[in-house]
Amino acid sequence: MNSSKRYLITAALPYANGLKHIGHLAGAYLPADIYVRYLKAQKREVVFVCGSDEHGTAIPIQAKKEGTTAQAIIDKYHPIIKQNFEDLSIDFDIYHRTSAPLHHKTAQAFFKKLNDNGDLEIKETEQYFDEAAQTFLADRFIKGTCPNCGFEEAFGDQCEKCGTSLSPELLINPVSTLSGNPPIKKLTKHWYLPLNKHEDWLREWILETHKSDWKTNVIGQCKSWLDGGLQPRAVTRDLDWGVKVPVEGADGKVLYVWFDAPIGYISATKQYCLDNGMDADLLWKDKDTKLVHFIGKDNIVFHCIIFPIMLKLYGDILPDNVPANEFVNLEGDKMSTSRNWKLEMQDYIDDFVKKENGGPQLVDALRFYLTTILPENKDSEFMWKGFQDANNNELVSIFGNFVNRSFVLMHKLCKGKVPPLHAALLDTKDQALITDIENAKISIEKHIETYKFRDALFEVIDLARKGNKYMQEKEPWIVVKTLEENPENQRLIDNCLHLCLQLTANLAIFINPFLPNTAQKLCKMMKVVDKMLEWQNGGRIKLLSVGYSLRAPELLFRKIEDEEINAQIEKLKNGVKEVVTGTSNTKASKEAAELVVEKTQIQFEDFAKIDLRVGTIIEAEKIPKADKLLKLQIDLGTEVRTICSGIAAHFSPEEIVGKRVTVVANLAPRKMRGIESNGMILMAENTEGKLVFVNPDDKVENGVSVN
Ligand code: 2FM
Ligand code: ZN
Repeated sequence: MNSSKRYLITAALPYANGLKHIGHLAGAYLPADIYVRYLKAQKREVVFVCGSDEHGTAIPIQAKKEGTTAQAIIDKYHPIIKQNFEDLSIDFDIYHRTSAPLHHKTAQAFFKKLNDNGDLEIKETEQYFDEAAQTFLADRFIKGTCPNCGFEEAFGDQCEKCGTSLSPELLINPVSTLSGNPPIKKLTKHWYLPLNKHEDWLREWILETHKSDWKTNVIGQCKSWLDGGLQPRAVTRDLDWGVKVPVEGADGKVLYVWFDAPIGYISATKQYCLDNGMDADLLWKDKDTKLVHFIGKDNIVFHCIIFPIMLKLYGDILPDNVPANEFVNLEGDKMSTSRNWKLEMQDYIDDFVKKENGGPQLVDALRFYLTTILPENKDSEFMWKGFQDANNNELVSIFGNFVNRSFVLMHKLCKGKVPPLHAALLDTKDQALITDIENAKISIEKHIETYKFRDALFEVIDLARKGNKYMQEKEPWIVVKTLEENPENQRLIDNCLHLCLQLTANLAIFINPFLPNTAQKLCKMMKVVDKMLEWQNGGRIKLLSVGYSLRAPELLFRKIEDEEINAQIEKLKNGVKEVVTGTSNTKASKEAAELVVEKTQIQFEDFAKIDLRVGTIIEAEKIPKADKLLKLQIDLGTEVRTICSGIAAHFSPEEIVGKRVTVVANLAPRKMRGIESNGMILMAENTEGKLVFVNPDDKVENGVSVN
């Protein structure tokens, strides 16, 4: 058992450049939340920090895609992501943001101290520069031909087609995405963190000190970095979005996002401490703090090598563990925003949690399934059928069923009160159940303390399974029939239900870190206060007092029907079709469409199959709960068509009424958010990334064919 005085738990700061999906949730936030809830139930001192990562090129790039500013992007996504976490019961003590002045100040002070101490190196190198835009170009702002696969739209940091990591120098025929011109090389000065100087202690610390308590996937990645030899890494960038470099001669430069983002953990802690009258230094400098970073595998090098070097130089504590997870795939394929193959937290919340028959129990259903498939050692699969099975066959049929039977029988056979325990009559089955409860506590603890959350949850469900088996063997509903002849048999019924109810109370404690809403509901049914959920109460069978009357059972979980699952699978497939056919008009989805479909030459007959017609938008309205879609009524001369179009992020309904449009009139009808869409309007994207209508000349009447 760990004896640290206090815990500081961090979960990777998500980029505020778009909605986050359930792969992110399972990667870092859910396991962190389970761990923190467990520690808090243990009454240990814990601070759980997270927040939005609002710098780096990801933000201005998204701004360009949405035709808006970087500030507007972070102001749009930060509150949504924060709310999504709340809606899924991820309970941070603070959800901060790196755009906050306190963060800028903290990151600058950090940089300054390292610079003043001579821990950074300055080098002048040649970097790509866009003369027309008068700016140096971040890797993502340079495009060219991939040297590996020949894809002509590869980015300076990565080819999205073959996945190869690149640097701008490797691109063939590079061009700036800002002006479209080939960039020139220009000298620029940058600050570097000499990672190479820290190899020795890193080797010792990671490969020796932590060789048996860090996960093998984490150790493996670190070892290959160390074996490959560490290089100095630039920690400043020529960019106008980020934390300004706080030294002379650094105009137009900001801190590299991976320098400032992890300092976000420190500034979030500072803000939390300010709000709660605590001392942030105690958390970040005192050896008795156990610092644990929950992250996904793509963040390992930053949290295990680069940030620890920064922390050591700054005089802060090092992480005790970095239990990084692998990735979650969806229905047999990698999750991808650009291909629309994903399940966003927002979608799940809209489709399940906010529904009349949804709510907290559906939050817990997702948390349950995701915990059973946490990618702790290897990538895992989210399958909608698997979600349904986990909910229906484990939560409903095992856990929910046990609790429900215990309550129903207690009301029926024990007058709605906790019956007494007749110790003299305890048999081996009763004793075995008592031992099972004690042992479960020990195993669950052991698994959680070693970051094996799946195994821990299996133990909880297994305990409920044992409860069902016990009840099945004891058959109190049969014993009751013998009471007329043998009234003392009531004591057997009492013992069975006493133990089942004590087991229910234990299940509430054990399930609480995983399914907090279920634990709350159980407390309500048992008429006990939250205090009962304290971990120290687990493993005992004296939680509910004899004679205490309990409420009627409530259904803890509901079955998930085939139709709900089929609708989700359909939606997923339609989302991809939308990208492939180009009915989704965002730049990202168009780029992805180009990747998914290799466009080949077509014959005139192929083109002639498309019925293009001229029309006018006569009505436009937002579709509730669909951020991207507008429902349009289009006058096609002889008829008015309903068409759903993914342009809501670019146009308000009012501004497009009266616009002339070109319509693909013979596109097969498709249901979008319950509305049948009959066709598609053509849009183009201008060089600023804005969508524009492909307008026919005013003199052409509605309904005229375009060919
Ligand atoms: O990969 C990401 O989403 C990063 N924004 C994670 C940053 S974690 C920390 F360093 F802030
Ligand atoms: Zn490539």
